[in-house]
Amino acid sequence: MCGITGYVGTEDCSSFLANSLKNLEYRGYDSVGVALLDGTLQVNKQSGQIDDLSLPSTTEATCGIGHTRWSTHGPPTDENAHPHTDCHGEISIVHNGIISNYGDHKRDLALTHEFTSDTDSEVIAHLLEEELVDDTDLPQAVRKVVEKLEGSFAIAVAVAGYDGIVAARQDSPLVVGHTDTAKFLASDITAFVEQTRTVTFLEDGDVAHLTEDNLSITNDGAVVERDRQTVDWDADAAEKSGYEHYMHKEIHEQPHAVRQSLSGRIDSLTGDVDLDIDAPIEYWKSIQEIQIVACGTSNYAARYAAELLETHTNLRVTVHVASEYEYRTSYDPWETLVIAVTQSGETADTLQALRMAVDSGARTLAVTNTVGSTVTREVDQTLYIRAGPEIGVAATKTFASQIVTLTLFTIHLGRQRDELESETATELLKNLHDLPEAIQTVLDGESQVRRLAERFAHSDAFFYIGRRLGHPVALEGALKLKEISYDHAEGFPGGELKHGPLALVTDQTPVIALLTPGSEPDEMAKNIKEVQAREAPVIGIGVRGEASETLDTFLGLPNLGYITPVLANVYLQLFAYHIANEKGRAIDKPRNLAKSVTVE
Ligand code: M6R
Repeated sequence: MCGITGYVGTEDCSSFLANSLKNLEYRGYDSVGVALLDGTLQVNKQSGQIDDLSLPSTTEATCGIGHTRWSTHGPPTDENAHPHTDCHGEISIVHNGIISNYGDHKRDLALTHEFTSDTDSEVIAHLLEEELVDDTDLPQAVRKVVEKLEGSFAIAVAVAGYDGIVAARQDSPLVVGHTDTAKFLASDITAFVEQTRTVTFLEDGDVAHLTEDNLSITNDGAVVERDRQTVDWDADAAEKSGYEHYMHKEIHEQPHAVRQSLSGRIDSLTGDVDLDIDAPIEYWKSIQEIQIVACGTSNYAARYAAELLETHTNLRVTVHVASEYEYRTSYDPWETLVIAVTQSGETADTLQALRMAVDSGARTLAVTNTVGSTVTREVDQTLYIRAGPEIGVAATKTFASQIVTLTLFTIHLGRQRDELESETATELLKNLHDLPEAIQTVLDGESQVRRLAERFAHSDAFFYIGRRLGHPVALEGALKLKEISYDHAEGFPGGELKHGPLALVTDQTPVIALLTPGSEPDEMAKNIKEVQAREAPVIGIGVRGEASETLDTFLGLPNLGYITPVLANVYLQLFAYHIANEKGRAIDKPRNLAKSVTVE
């Protein structure tokens, strides 16, 4: 998975390309490059990050494309960095995705073309070189190349002697930004939100030609019109606002993110919610089963929500790791609602699972943060979590917003199906309403967590335990710690310890125990005794009560009923953040990971 950017306008574009690539680094950051057009084509590229790339401070180039890479074919070397060029260095291309039939093309082309990289992407430059021998219409030549490609791709092309940029998409995102004097191209609005918020999302099969004052799009050879939209993400939201890391900033943005998720959607008096999803009551009543597909943090948010959904809708709800969904042996799509939970809306495993559900005739709903993302184009309905841009690879605010949005959906569905009493709905809504302020009180207690992190930073194995709603939060807490600190961390249901993991517990194994409402704190007290008997240091998180008395380290929380574990998770995020910071880790860009995983 990679980030693409492009500019065509009236100004020198080198600094825009550099800035936009920085904004896109969350999509990949192992190599970077730009191609600048000022009559001739100049390509600068290398392994490493954008700050390592030496670019001329001013150029004459008013058109260019750029790329930040996360390797899939070939290691992160200078040669494998994009842009890739043809044999004469006149055609430059950048690509996000995977060309699955590149091997066949490369075999044929290698007879007459010189390849300089191990990538699948380079075939695009050479295929285009072939087309431009006979055809001088660049968009048409790109269209012919695209017809020969299999797989997923977003492509941008800049060629010496041709006006503007040509872009094409199939299963990978591309968006065009408009000002009076320029057109911008990117994998994500974040790349150019400082310049414009007026955008056009390209769709699968589109080939777009961007010039300084025009955007023309064809699909399957026919001219098509795509709407211009205004997005409400501002430039500030995409910057670090004084925090050292995006992750830290995004942890602190949670009160705001949750308010956005709730905004205009709740009526606390009647217990009803208005979710802008358009379906008659019969639609909701006829659902017989819910299946949720998601990966990583989104999967844990889904597991949390599934417990609430099952309780309040009287439906069977199962949560599937998206990459495992295809191995099920029986599937009855009849009246089944399949929900894809994905922050980015671009996760290949989740899209793949969703497509299976669509093919088999299930109803579908996307719960996502990303307007115009691929998932939204493939489902019957979309529910946005409205968390705002999340740049840090570690998902934080989106976990909270996913649970909040799915809880709203639970209330909506429970009420539509007459399974949820108005009083229970009102209580859940009250807890949601109070959540932003309660998160702020947790954030205000950050210094206590920082001290704990200092105390335990030398430990290299951590256990997280919780029951019921505490279990997905334990899994999420462990995921957060392992991905940014590189320490071994595992989450377990409290009752499972004695079935194996207890063998690893020593006085050197910090155990973090979820003791919130919804985490069965009384049952958890027994599991705490089991690890205390092995002299493990225990950090309890919950509402103060009997269990907290037996612990020397306890992080207290306000009681928000079944929403309280979301609050506990904020402590776990801060704990992971400060441990990783103590260790000097690359918090926003952990090794081997990328923000949005668009390969299966
Ligand atoms: O964009 P998605 O929510 O579909 O991403 C799914 C996972 O890759 C993601 O949640 C991942 O586990 C987190 N970035 C980890 O913090």
